[in-house]
Amino acid sequence: MYILSIDTSCDDTSVAISNDLNIIANVFWSKIKTHEKWGGVVPNEAKRQHEEFLPHAVDECLKEANRKLDDSFGLTKIDYFAVTYGPGLAVALEPGIKIAKELSRKYNKPLVAVNHMAGHIYAVLARDENNIPLSDLAEFEFPLLALTISGGHTDLIFMKDDLDFKVIGTKLDDALGECIDKVGRILGLPFPAGKYLEEIAIKGNPKSYKLPRPMSGSQDLNFSYSGLKTSVLYMIRKYVEQKHGIKLDDKLKITDLSSYLDESEIQNFASSFQIAAFESLNIKIRLALSKYKVKSLVVGGGVIANQTLRLLIDNICREFKTNFYYPKPFYLCTDNAAMIAIAAFYYIKNNKNVYNYNELDKIDRVPGLSIEKL
Ligand code: KG4
Ligand code: ZN
Repeated sequence: MYILSIDTSCDDTSVAISNDLNIIANVFWSKIKTHEKWGGVVPNEAKRQHEEFLPHAVDECLKEANRKLDDSFGLTKIDYFAVTYGPGLAVALEPGIKIAKELSRKYNKPLVAVNHMAGHIYAVLARDENNIPLSDLAEFEFPLLALTISGGHTDLIFMKDDLDFKVIGTKLDDALGECIDKVGRILGLPFPAGKYLEEIAIKGNPKSYKLPRPMSGSQDLNFSYSGLKTSVLYMIRKYVEQKHGIKLDDKLKITDLSSYLDESEIQNFASSFQIAAFESLNIKIRLALSKYKVKSLVVGGGVIANQTLRLLIDNICREFKTNFYYPKPFYLCTDNAAMIAIAAFYYIKNNKNVYNYNELDKIDRVPGLSIEKL
């Protein structure tokens, strides 16, 4: 079954073509450069660029997959279209849904409306063109625990079966990725900061500065990262004032703070922050694994691209004798349309959210879509 999928939940325009679970082509059109300048995603700019890039991305993806949309012999056709309908930025989701509906209508093929976070979890089941699982996992082992860590989400999810999601822990304020990006800004790193922070954190000493481990005492499975970001900010301000014997202006721009630090100080702050953020996450993973008896832990979302975090979680899972899976290729951790295709395969198998070309009006964007709603 050939699926052409589209993801425009945030700032990346991505289109993929899959055959069952095999990823045949995955195309990105990124506008990071524009957003880098502003230190965050500019929604209307994201929308404008999705509109501009989508037709090209669809064409390029079809070319890469050597597929056509209108082959009457049925040899190279697409059987289904799939699109992210939430969660995400409303104005970013719209152009993706619009073009997906147009394609579905034009080629009389069903459209599958997919939850972006289900995509992050199912990404781990993607296979290459030769049907080899890209992340060493052929199918889910239930019950399982899923953890989604991205720019917008920090969720612990219990799954008894396919597409059966129960949120058992969630963010109370900033998501982990959001906190990483904000601290990255304080340290003068480009947006999104995750990969740059990882690079410099490796060179620093994680014990240099003592930062709090948020929520470490709480017995629930929720997360809070906004306090940690504030602690980093105050700690650096105080450090700079003491080091230089100055009083910093209250109106000093966050992005100017790092100019008072040398390279090794930035590395040490990055390293100390990173370990505080990850240890706080790991406390909750331990708690969840002791409360829920599961066969495996599946982690998805941009932050699991981080090698240090992968090692830390791997150690916990060994201790709990739980299998640990995450999308091995970097592109399957961060936003991509391939993961939407994999989730769509399971939606189709379970007959969920599959709409015929004459019932597409039922699909609309849902920016705050919960994973429990599919
Ligand atoms: O899943 P994703 O691409 O988009 C959302 O759905 O939000 O996640 C983006 C987040 C950003 O906050 C980015 O800084 C973070 O993932 N990220 C990383 C790394 N690569 C991306 N965080 C830590 N280490 C990385 N190597
Ligand atoms: Zn995402």
